[in-house]
Amino acid sequence: MTTPLIAVLGSINMDLVTTTATRPAPGETVLGRGFAMVPGGKGANQAIAASRAGGQTMFLGAIGTDVFAPRLRAVLTESLVDTTGLRTIDGPSGIATIVVDDTGENTIIVVGGANTAMTELTDADRTAIAAADILVCQLEIPLETVTAAARHARAHDTTVILNPSPVQHLSEELWEHVDVAVVNTGEAGQLGGLLDRVPHVVVTLGAHGARHRGPDGAETTATGPTVEVVDTTGAGDTFTGALAVHWGQGPATALRFACTAGSLATTALGASASIPWRTEIDAVLPG
Ligand code: RIB
Repeated sequence: MTTPLIAVLGSINMDLVTTTATRPAPGETVLGRGFAMVPGGKGANQAIAASRAGGQTMFLGAIGTDVFAPRLRAVLTESLVDTTGLRTIDGPSGIATIVVDDTGENTIIVVGGANTAMTELTDADRTAIAAADILVCQLEIPLETVTAAARHARAHDTTVILNPSPVQHLSEELWEHVDVAVVNTGEAGQLGGLLDRVPHVVVTLGAHGARHRGPDGAETTATGPTVEVVDTTGAGDTFTGALAVHWGQGPATALRFACTAGSLATTALGASASIPWRTEIDAVLPG
């Protein structure tokens, strides 16, 4: 396999993670078990996942000038992600408040911070997108920028993978420029009619793996290894980044690899902290 060139456009957040036996009901106070600060953000997680899985990856996003910014930049460089497209915006970085319960399930609130300043593409962004084999986007930065990036990618034969999360209404123009949509079952239900809009739809099914449906209607499924789940945060992002790396080898190979990477990402606490490297994925990849 030749190393794919992947541009990931999106968010980067500091995740403030509290663990607890059960998540509180509205109006209830519960005692937590622990607290950690872990770099995350759907865009950064997907870039880190693609890079650690073996793709040559550039991240196009923004951090602030607060106390979290140096650590956010560092996690990208430590993961061998090209950060020349990372801008610094005066003010706070993106923040996610995350509560993880004993089953590994989470609730997340994101405050965009510097991510909200991603209101337009720079010339360098356009050059990176045009040169890439694959552009990966999600929806934690302004939609106009995602749409402009997808349009530019299509004009330069760069494959567009969109993870439409957090789920929201999207314009027909954006959908027209998407080649692959990656959604979980909840997002698939909320968006509806995806198969009519996008040539390739990949639905992640949690512990049951993932399903791909192509333009000819053919379906492919795959599952990852059975693991002990600690925290599902970032598992979908890991799946998406890993899928991008192997997309050029066809859906069956890409799904198998992505399911394995996504499963491994549930075995430790924290989004970026749990994203596996290529050697770890290969070690458990089903033959
Ligand atoms: O998908 C998980 C991510 O969602 C977290 O890392 C958090 O930052 C939010 O963006």
